[in-house]
Amino acid sequence: SIPVPNVQELVSQQLETVPSRYIRDDMDTIITTVPSDLSLRVPLIDMTKLVNSESQDTELQKLHAACKDWGIFQLINHGVSDESLRNMNKQTQEFFDLPLREKKRWAQKPGSLEGYGQAFVTSAEQKLEWNDMIFLKALPIENRTLELWPENPPKFRESLDRYSQDMRQIAVALTRFMAMGLEIESQELYEAFQGLYQIRMNYYPPCPQPERVMGLTPHVDIPAFALLLDCGDKPGLQVLKDSHWVFVEPLDGAIVVNMGQITEIMSNGLYKAPEHRAVVNKSKERRSVVTFCYPNLSFKVGPAKEQINSGSLPLYKTVTVEEYFQRFINRKLEVPFMDTMKI
Ligand code: SIN
Ligand code: FE2
Repeated sequence: SIPVPNVQELVSQQLETVPSRYIRDDMDTIITTVPSDLSLRVPLIDMTKLVNSESQDTELQKLHAACKDWGIFQLINHGVSDESLRNMNKQTQEFFDLPLREKKRWAQKPGSLEGYGQAFVTSAEQKLEWNDMIFLKALPIENRTLELWPENPPKFRESLDRYSQDMRQIAVALTRFMAMGLEIESQELYEAFQGLYQIRMNYYPPCPQPERVMGLTPHVDIPAFALLLDCGDKPGLQVLKDSHWVFVEPLDGAIVVNMGQITEIMSNGLYKAPEHRAVVNKSKERRSVVTFCYPNLSFKVGPAKEQINSGSLPLYKTVTVEEYFQRFINRKLEVPFMDTMKI
């Protein structure tokens, strides 16, 4: 991998234009306002309605439709306290606000994504992203690389510990309702989603040329799903829907749920892992905290038998989560990863 500059450091040089390695000439139209067309609003799912027997059927149908038609939705009343979300937001902000030299105490080691730094690039031509991040393994606890967990701000570790357990609670609950939507047996899923949880905190500094730069390049997530806490005042996350890039508006107290390829595989293609990206803006920095949710390493990822029994052919191979990671690491960049999972 090739070293990537720190964006916050770049911004501190008060540039009026952005270095050419960040400039894209393939930016699609950006919808900059909330679309008045209601069919282009990201769905909203209420967890209390999923739990409550009177409203369950209707809300399950909404969830099923959201997973099929969008692959992304906002989740409210998810049971995690505002305090936990606010704490994580605050600790993330205080961490990124530290001087660079201090943050580098927890810098990535060569060849590894874990710790504070940037995403990899593999060629000198590859466009760079307007993003600094810290990436940490959070659960199970024994997987943590504690020497990369910031000790400054002082409450960072404690907040992240709590927050990661809270996100697991949401993930386990969601898995049950998604299984109901797909009419698949959920006991095994429930155990599997005790799972692997990784957290990526993103920092997008203000950018002098936001219309030509990407915070995150369009991509599809590989986990079962990602749970995103958007800490921005201005929206930055966009999802591709019916060939429109639609903003996901930050909603106080909500968690954005974004399906990944494991869910697409398990639903045999019924639930979609959507393409999404992060854009940046001129005046405001933006932060987000993203939890990647995977089943345990030994869990077999493949089309659920209930999907196959209903008469459709399996579209994807079945591999353990461990093998799935290996395949992802060894993938060829020319071929979309999902294609290598197709039968
Ligand atoms: C973000 O909205 O900042 C992150 C989007 C992603 O995780 O791809
Ligand atoms: Fe993503």
